[in-house]
Amino acid sequence: MSLIGLMRGQAVAIHNGIIVQVADEKDVLDDHRLQSTTQILDVGGRLVTPGLIDAHTHFIFAGQRADEFEEKIRGVSYLEIAARGGGIKRTVRDTTATSANDLIKLGRQRLDRYLEMGVTTVEVKSGYGLSLEHELRMLKIAQTLNEIHPVDVVSTLLAAHEIPEKMSKEEYLRLVVDTIIPRVAELNLADFCDVFCERGVFSIEESELILNKGLEYGLVPKIHADQIHNTGASRLGVKVGAVSVDHADHIDQAGIQQLAESNTVAVLLPGCNFFMGLDSRAPARSMIDQGVAVALATDFNPGSCMTQNIQLIMTMGCVQFRMTPAEVLTAVTTNAAHAIGRAHDRGRIQCGFQADMTVFDVNDIRELVYHFGALHTWKTIKHGLVCWERTQ
Ligand code: NIG
Ligand code: FE
Repeated sequence: MSLIGLMRGQAVAIHNGIIVQVADEKDVLDDHRLQSTTQILDVGGRLVTPGLIDAHTHFIFAGQRADEFEEKIRGVSYLEIAARGGGIKRTVRDTTATSANDLIKLGRQRLDRYLEMGVTTVEVKSGYGLSLEHELRMLKIAQTLNEIHPVDVVSTLLAAHEIPEKMSKEEYLRLVVDTIIPRVAELNLADFCDVFCERGVFSIEESELILNKGLEYGLVPKIHADQIHNTGASRLGVKVGAVSVDHADHIDQAGIQQLAESNTVAVLLPGCNFFMGLDSRAPARSMIDQGVAVALATDFNPGSCMTQNIQLIMTMGCVQFRMTPAEVLTAVTTNAAHAIGRAHDRGRIQCGFQADMTVFDVNDIRELVYHFGALHTWKTIKHGLVCWERTQ
């Protein structure tokens, strides 16, 4: 993860949104394929990275929960708030009561904000619907946003995010397994199937049932694992061949070892514990040292992490996880691409890859994470086009 291949004095040639050459600036500018119509963008020696990838978000939602944030500061726990009908259930009420058009408007604004953060691909989960109708609606909104906005949106079915208010868990499980998963697969609305495996939410056995059912229908597993308690969910993720296990704050040593021996990426979300005022941390350093592929993401959602600022998350990776700036860059580019099954065409500045690149107004990746809280994006390039640029 620390071998990022920093190169100086280079230029990148792009044709039809694809990277076709990465070489010394002089060679690229002298190349015979250069035409009078070729546009040249001089970044003035600034740092250029692959477009950042936010591999774990819940960015489609309505309403907000600032009052719960205050309660959490006062010591009320996430699960206590959930138990009295707040938390995810509240966002489900707000989201299902909002029109699709308004959700698209909110989604579009948030994707614009992502471009400003230097993010060119975002994963998004459903899970604020909790019924066939509304889970499908959320995923269709994600599909629409993918079509109308330059940022690529990759969808995950997270019907198993909570238990809906007027149903028993058994009834809802049957609905997810017998109806929602097959229908989502049939309509080709998601690449992945996720589950919130946690005490009081879905157990290991229930999660296994859901993820295997998804797999049967071609939805690759992902799992919210060991976030608040160690439940062994990270091990379950490896067992079912998940593309990623996410959170892993309370992962055990057996889980780390199994992850290290697998192709599953650990998507760590340091913004959550920070935002919820909790001291626990995923054992990131130990995971990386033992050979786990680690990605970092925001987990942007109205409850456990209300931020889209992946650059701030990168600094948290350094300070709280003791990851080096180079490891952090890997974690939000190629490893993040692996976590959403897109490592073949993005996450690297390499011939044949999508020309998704972010130009930062710094000389060096260390400067980016060092000056924290500031936004360093200078230009965001998606498919070869400048889609966002700093205006002052
Ligand atoms: O990743 N853990 C469950 N889901 C989200 C939180 C969603 C919410 O609180 O609205 C998470 O932390
Ligand atoms: Fe999440």
